[in-house]
Amino acid sequence: MIGIPETRKETNPIVEVLSVCKSYASSEVIRNCSFQIREGEIYGLLGVNGAGKTTLMKLILGLQKLNSGRITVLGQEVGAGWEYLSEVGSMIEVPVFYGHLNAEEILSMHLTLMGAKANIADTLKLVGLLGVGGKPVEKYSLGMRQRLGLARAIIHAPRLLILDEPLNGLDPLGIAQMRELLRELTAKGMSILLSSHIIGEIRHTADRIGILSGGEIVKEFSVREKAEECGEGFEDYVISIMGRKVYGSV
Ligand SMILES: Nc1ncnc2c1ncn2[C@@H]1O[C@H](COP(=O)(O)OP(=O)(O)OP(=O)(O)O)[C@@H](O)[C@H]1O
Ligand SMILES: [Mg+2]
Repeated sequence: MIGIPETRKETNPIVEVLSVCKSYASSEVIRNCSFQIREGEIYGLLGVNGAGKTTLMKLILGLQKLNSGRITVLGQEVGAGWEYLSEVGSMIEVPVFYGHLNAEEILSMHLTLMGAKANIADTLKLVGLLGVGGKPVEKYSLGMRQRLGLARAIIHAPRLLILDEPLNGLDPLGIAQMRELLRELTAKGMSILLSSHIIGEIRHTADRIGILSGGEIVKEFSVREKAEECGEGFEDYVISIMGRKVYGSV
C-alpha cells in the first residue's frame, strides 16, 4: 500500500511550485522546478549540499525573489501579498534570536507579531525546553536553540510548517522526539515541508520524498511504496538519484 492515507490523497495542494527558476548572479540554482505539497502530509526534500533546498524554501517564504514561474501557498500567490505568512511557520538554516532575551520573551514577541495567542509553557514542554524558558538564549546549546526555533515555528499553530534541516544539533533523543512531534502536528492537520541530508531519518518521517538535483525535482515517490519496493536497497537507490545530476557540471 502507499504511504499516504486515502483521506490525504486528493486534497488541494497547500503549496504549488510551478516551473520556477531562480539564479544568483549568473548562476542558475533552481531550474524549471515543479512540485506540490498536499494537505496533511510531510514532504521530505532531499538533495546534496548546494542542491538548492534552502533556496527553494526561501522562495516559498518570499525571502528570495524568483526569476520566473509561480508559487502559491494556501491559495495565495507568493509575491502578491503577505497574508499567508501568518499561517506559515518556518525554521531556515540556523535559527537566529536576540541572545539577551529568554525563550519565554522570544515566543511572546513572536505571538505578538503573528497576532496569535498560545500557551508558552505548553509549547516549551512540547519541544523539551520546559524549565529553561527563563534562561537567556545566548546561554543555550546548539540543540536547545534548534528546539526553540521549532517552538517559534509552531507556537502560532500554522497550517504549513517549513523546516530546513531541523535535526541539526539534536541528540538521538531529540531526533526521536522531533519525529513524534511532527507526526502529532500532521495529525492535527498541519502540512510539513522538511529538508534533510539524512536519508534514514527522512525515510522514517516523511510521507513522500522529492529529490532535488540539477535545480529540479528529478524524482518523487511515496516513502512506504519505495521502501517496500527497495527493501534494504532504499538508501542506495536514493543516493544514486541524488548524485546523478549536479547543476553546472552537466
Ligand atoms: N545568497 C546567495 N547568493 C549567491 N549564491 C547563493 C546564495 N544562496 C545560495 N547560493 C548558492 O546557491 C546554491 C544552492 O544553495 P542552497 O543553500 O539553496 O543549497 P542547499 O541544498 O540548501 O545546500 P545545503 O545542503 O548545504 O544546505 C549553492 O551553489 C549556493 O552557493
Ligand atoms: Mg541548505
